[in-house]
Amino acid sequence: MTDKTVGFALCGSFCTFRKVIPELQRLRDAGYKIQPIMSFNAYNMDTRFGTARTFREEIETVTGAKIIATIPDAEPIGPKKLLDALIIAPCTGNTLAKLAVGIADTPVTLAAKSHLRNGRPLLIGVSTNDALAGAAKNIGALQNYKNVFFIPYGQDDSTEKPASLVADFTQTIPALEAALRGVQIQPLLL
Ligand SMILES: Cc1cc2nc3c(=O)[nH]c(=O)nc-3n(C[C@H](O)[C@H](O)[C@H](O)COP(=O)(O)O)c2cc1C
Repeated sequence: MTDKTVGFALCGSFCTFRKVIPELQRLRDAGYKIQPIMSFNAYNMDTRFGTARTFREEIETVTGAKIIATIPDAEPIGPKKLLDALIIAPCTGNTLAKLAVGIADTPVTLAAKSHLRNGRPLLIGVSTNDALAGAAKNIGALQNYKNVFFIPYGQDDSTEKPASLVADFTQTIPALEAALRGVQIQPLLL
């Protein structure tokens, strides 16, 4: 068991929500206190994978906490040292690009910026169709940043989506435990 508090930020990779939400439950079962965070798009958009409201309610029920969904609510994460670690999963190509160049214009990207100033770990679970194309440079840049770690990832459909990578979200807890020790879990590439 642990007494640690973890931020869990979801971006608009809606097809992976069903894989990520069980990890919230696993983290809680392992004793982590979870602060959910959602990007504007993840929080608001209804898609063919479900309504925004359904996902929001599910996430708040599983975590037992109110979702941070605005920039003012994300800002205190750094100054008040609210999180021992921050997980961004799923992390979209859009958010990867912003993180790589220091843009902080969503609750998730500001949470990352605010949290990283404390020298504490940020763990990213990628899910994007252009990971081996346009987003590759951003993943590479982030892998070179201090205190940034990745959940192991692999190609999810090399025939139909040859540039797509998705994290193995079932490795969230071991990857988090390693990140809390300042270590990138290996193997990174599945
Ligand atoms: C149904 C649906 C599924 C999507 N899946 C993904 C995805 O898996 N990965 C990704 O990078 N973007 C995906 N997108 C696009 C993002 O939602 C879009 O780039 C959005 O601006 C991301 O904003 P955010 O990074 O602030 O959450 C999807 C969009 C829709 C409508």
